Amino acid sequence: MGRLDGKVALITGAASGIGAAIALRFAQEGARIAGIDIQDLADGDWAEAVQRAGAGPLHKLDVRDKGAVLRAAAEVEAQYGQIDLLVNSAGVAGGGPVHLIADEEWDRVMDINLKGTLHACQAVVPGMLARERGSIVNIASVEGIEGFEGGSAYNASKGAVILLTRNMAIDYGRRGIRVNAVCPGFIETPLFRSTLELDAMDEVRDKIRDAHQLGRFGQPVEIANGALFLASDEASFVTGQALAVDGGYTAGHRFGIARMMGLD
Ligand SMILES: NC(=O)c1ccc[n+]([C@@H]2O[C@H](COP(=O)([O-])OP(=O)(O)OC[C@H]3O[C@@H](n4cnc5c(N)ncnc54)[C@H](O)[C@@H]3O)[C@@H](O)[C@H]2O)c1
Repeated sequence: MGRLDGKVALITGAASGIGAAIALRFAQEGARIAGIDIQDLADGDWAEAVQRAGAGPLHKLDVRDKGAVLRAAAEVEAQYGQIDLLVNSAGVAGGGPVHLIADEEWDRVMDINLKGTLHACQAVVPGMLARERGSIVNIASVEGIEGFEGGSAYNASKGAVILLTRNMAIDYGRRGIRVNAVCPGFIETPLFRSTLELDAMDEVRDKIRDAHQLGRFGQPVEIANGALFLASDEASFVTGQALAVDGGYTAGHRFGIARMMGLD
């Protein structure tokens, strides 16, 4: 028996990386999947795996377009009769220090990461309220918990996603809807590769890897497993939480002092 048998899940950012891993993992646990993404399925292997696991069609749209998100959710509800689970994984990196960031870049990051999340929530919450049940998982980031050099817009957008999560948990807890966030550390996805796999980034990449206390980067399926727990009935008493799935990135710092003092 699957942990999500009988559930219908709408997943944004489902074409790639963490969203695709969540689609696959949820499908493996018996959920019927509907995806939203601005691009076609990005990665051949994932696309095939998701389709093999029985996912429905991908709705190709921009989460900044509220009307399109509402229409897609209405289509999914018409097709499957309900949406039980929403995962917001559509997101972009971007930013720069505040004295350099252009307004257009700030707006792009905030509109996709924060307002896109809002739009998808607005699309599914009315149906969840009517049925008095639902579970929403927002993919935030460790960068919504801690600052990161040069990360102004991204930090602000992900911090806001965590507080939106807590707000919704309060507004809807008594009406049967749980709302939680997952805060990934650095996960090997196309988004990650677009920045950290540049040759010039070798040294920085090693430092970032070392900031994870497990000594490695994460894999998309490890985030999917966190999202699965929060989405499922196993987390029936969990709401308003931001679960760091980060290999210890937010556990604190390690400077080698213990080794220097011969204490390791
Ligand atoms: N990879 C990491 O290290 C990491 C760490 C922390 C948080 N995250 C978050 O996880 C989420 C997924 O990231 P990922 O690493 O899988 O990246 P990814 O680029 O592999 O996947 C993101 C997906 O979102 C889609 N998307 C982007 N803009 C969109 C828009 N306007 N409308 C609809 N879809 C859109 C992209 O097409 C893509 O398929 C993001 O919210 C990201 O901020 C990633």
